[in-house]
Amino acid sequence: MARNQISKIAYKTLQQGKSIAGLAHKELSTKIMNFILPDNKLGNFYIDKQLLIDIQSSMDSLREEDWNDAENNIYPKKLLFDEPWLRYLTQYPKIWLDMPNTWDRRRKQNYQDLPKNIDNESYPKYYLRNFHHQTDGYLSDFSASIYDLQVEILFNGSADSMRRRIIKPLKEGLNNFRDRKKSSLKILDVATGSGRTLKQLRGAFPKEKIIGLDLSGSYLKEASRFISNLDGDLIELVKGNAEELPFDDNSLQGISCVYLFHELPRTVREKVLKEFFRVLEPGGILVLADSIQVNDSPNFIQIMENFHKSFHEPFYCDYIKEDLNSKIEEIGFNSTNSKSFFMTKVWSAVK
Ligand SMILES: C[S@@+](CC[C@H](N)C(=O)[O-])C[C@H]1O[C@@H](n2cnc3c(N)ncnc32)[C@H](O)[C@@H]1O
Repeated sequence: MARNQISKIAYKTLQQGKSIAGLAHKELSTKIMNFILPDNKLGNFYIDKQLLIDIQSSMDSLREEDWNDAENNIYPKKLLFDEPWLRYLTQYPKIWLDMPNTWDRRRKQNYQDLPKNIDNESYPKYYLRNFHHQTDGYLSDFSASIYDLQVEILFNGSADSMRRRIIKPLKEGLNNFRDRKKSSLKILDVATGSGRTLKQLRGAFPKEKIIGLDLSGSYLKEASRFISNLDGDLIELVKGNAEELPFDDNSLQGISCVYLFHELPRTVREKVLKEFFRVLEPGGILVLADSIQVNDSPNFIQIMENFHKSFHEPFYCDYIKEDLNSKIEEIGFNSTNSKSFFMTKVWSAVK
């Protein structure tokens, strides 16, 4: 009992520490940017007292939820403490060195500043841009090598706690196939990026077949390095487009998709949802996680607006207003549920 209490305190202290580090980084980098480039369009983001209280209380609830799910064996507790510190150490100086390029791109509103060697024909038009003003968009090994620490900083150290919110609904959904061998069940993580979600999934689903798909070869290479020494069966990585998944109809039992939808135009979001419906077997479970939306997180509208203003996210404004629950049902899914956790909203639905 006492040991459990100590672990819980350690977990909360770790999260609090990461949150302070994330905030300190953002404060310092904004100050330096405003000093060097006083005309920069970013401006200052004023957080009033009530918003601060709401942020703190929402982060506390997220940590409580994360702890309770581990306590209830939804996933192993070791995931809560599994931080790639060495990796962060190599990524952090690169983030600072790259920052002036990001500011410059933001100042010049240069969204198409991409590596010269890429084959434009291989990617959809909406993808060929520097989302968040990041160097090379999603199209270089350098971008892939610093991405997950950038996300960690953006979310004040709580990115993985939010990603883990997909696990409980996935587990509940896969229960529809409890009469089958776990090793025969297939879970696809779409837009898997540099592999952070895959690591959480492997921790929670040690026996199931897990596949990660992304459009970026560089991000898949980074994911491959990140997950190479995980316990359990090898995770398969596939280069592909969420709009045309390279899987047969009714061939998968679970799909997860984290932080993709806000980067897609509305028509593509619909196309991707239809594709998810096609490849899932009847009874299969879809779990989406993405930014919170205006209708159920009105107290965080200021944060959503600031995100749109400070980062190049051309489809975000439309995304935060779309009624995805209705869209998911319209496509044919049932039992649609959604719930928000700090900055992330999670949907689940059954085919
Ligand atoms: C914001 S990142 C999210 C990555 C990861 N899921 C995470 O939790 O950090 C978006 C990812 O979606 C991928 N992506 C964007 N459009 C895609 C598409 N049409 N098909 C497959 N992947 C796509 C990008 O390459 C990028 O890795």
